[in-house]
Amino acid sequence: MTKKIIVTGSNRGIGHSIAERLASEKYGIIMVDYDNKVINSAKTLNSEYGNAEGIQCDVSSYEACENAFSGIDKREIYGIVNNAGINRDVLFRNMTYEQWDAVIKTDLYSMFNVTRQFTDSMIENKFGRIVNISSASWNGNVGQANYSSAKAGVIGFTKTLARELGKYGITCNAVVPGFIKTPMTDQMPEKIREKFIEKIPIKRIGTAEDVANAVSFLMKPDSDYISGILLEVGGGMIL
Ligand SMILES: NC(=O)c1ccc[n+]([C@@H]2O[C@H](COP(=O)([O-])OP(=O)(O)OC[C@H]3O[C@@H](n4cnc5c(N)ncnc54)[C@H](O)[C@@H]3O)[C@@H](O)[C@H]2O)c1
Repeated sequence: MTKKIIVTGSNRGIGHSIAERLASEKYGIIMVDYDNKVINSAKTLNSEYGNAEGIQCDVSSYEACENAFSGIDKREIYGIVNNAGINRDVLFRNMTYEQWDAVIKTDLYSMFNVTRQFTDSMIENKFGRIVNISSASWNGNVGQANYSSAKAGVIGFTKTLARELGKYGITCNAVVPGFIKTPMTDQMPEKIREKFIEKIPIKRIGTAEDVANAVSFLMKPDSDYISGILLEVGGGMIL
């Protein structure tokens, strides 16, 4: 079987590092992003490793996912990394419906929209690796009612799929990043960043490569007895 892995939200940030790490490990990579720059990002990765392609798709839309993935041979899909996510942080009393809706659709609905395209073929293959990116915020965080709800949903989704799909050789796990340096967190004011570092026992902000390392471990063929777990990549941070 060709070992192809779908990585959503892989034009930049954590998703890009995951795609790069898995490409270097000789998996075929399908980079998915709503930013059309993903096509060029995939070309660059392909010129280095010879095994990447890009698909432009808004994973918050079920219809867009059905269309985007209709052209690929689903039997070749070895794994999925559901990484695409956004945040719209604001105190709940000021949160608009649009801010709620955008985050839930991108960070939670995308789990269904993408994964559902491949569950039948994975069951037929009697093999699959699903890794979902949650967040330490799943446990609740001020200013993130939308994001925390979506990321807690990711954990329920992960544990349920682990129970339902284990008998078909499919594992489903969540990686739970803490505070990771990416364009998403670069917008954070310096003072808040310093406060975060105080809370991290390993006194540094995480890197996208730290997260990619955890995903790589869960993707391995011999990680087949590990399913339904939350693998925290947060330097020991508890929010
Ligand atoms: N950076 C952190 O500290 C941190 C911490 C915990 C969890 N996470 C999670 O890790 C994941 C990646 O975060 P990041 O920091 O790399 O973010 P980022 O904003 O740097 O990158 C996100 C990528 O997802 C893409 N994307 C967003 N919405 C999309 C959609 N609807 N369809 C397709 N692609 C879409 C963006 O274009 C971008 O390429 C997210 O799920 C995020 O919630 C990040």
